[in-house]
Amino acid sequence: MWETETKSGGVKRAVRIFLPAIHLASNSYALVESVLGFARDIVKAVYLAGIQLYTRLVCIEREFPSSIRLRARLDVVPRTAGSERHRLSLGKHSLIETHCVVCTWHGDVILKEGASVGIGSVVVGPVQIGENSAVAQNCFISGQSHCYEDVSKSFRRQGFQVTPVIIQKDVWICSNCVIIPGVKIGNNSVIGAGSVVVDNIPAYSVAVGNPAKVIKKYDFKTEKWVRA
Ligand SMILES: CC(C)(COP(=O)(O)OP(=O)(O)OC[C@H]1O[C@@H](n2cnc3c(N)ncnc32)[C@H](O)[C@@H]1OP(=O)(O)O)[C@@H](O)C(=O)NCCC(=O)NCCS
Repeated sequence: MWETETKSGGVKRAVRIFLPAIHLASNSYALVESVLGFARDIVKAVYLAGIQLYTRLVCIEREFPSSIRLRARLDVVPRTAGSERHRLSLGKHSLIETHCVVCTWHGDVILKEGASVGIGSVVVGPVQIGENSAVAQNCFISGQSHCYEDVSKSFRRQGFQVTPVIIQKDVWICSNCVIIPGVKIGNNSVIGAGSVVVDNIPAYSVAVGNPAKVIKKYDFKTEKWVRA
């Protein structure tokens, strides 16, 4: 009786000791992959930090004073061989806020004097933002999209369609807007929060919704905004 109890206790203890080791051994491949992945992430982070430093010191045209927050990401240096470099240009008193991503791989991004891009917005060139225009938080503005017509190939291998977005002066793009390639927004217009702009918006208009439609126009006779 005593002998049997001792035996079963020994087995339990052995299981307690060796089970984690067996578990670790069976997962060792996953562990190696995790360690390698983490090491690769660190190397890549150092490489990307170097590119950001080089971009900010050498690759941007900017007038003083203008601000680019340190946590903004600037994709200006081309990553593929043979692709040409486009301009990122900032006029006086312009601002790129924290957590923005600005990409010029397919075309210039030009911020004129006093233009600003709000927290967390993404701007993919070619895009021009006019004098004193403001893009609020979390907007997506792109002058580039993928071609997808040929279904026999992945869209990734079909090249890009590039049509500039032009935002004229004194335009206010409210939070969470999307502006697709080729759109032109006339001066002194307002695009309501959460709008998706797929067509041109004339000057002195308020446009809202998905797709964005003009709901108000400025009347110069009465000097008031009136319902469209
Ligand atoms: C665009 C905006 C400025 C317009 O304000 P406004 O001129 O006072 O507009 P109104 O309140 O008179 O609204 C007019 C109509 O448009 C609708 N509307 C207003 N903003 C809208 C929006 N963003 N999306 C959809 N519909 C909207 C209203 O519901 C109203 O519809 P109705 O006539 O059927 O009642 C405002 O609605 C907005 O989007 N503000 C967001 C502010 C922001 O993003 N701030 C970020 C900090 S910079």
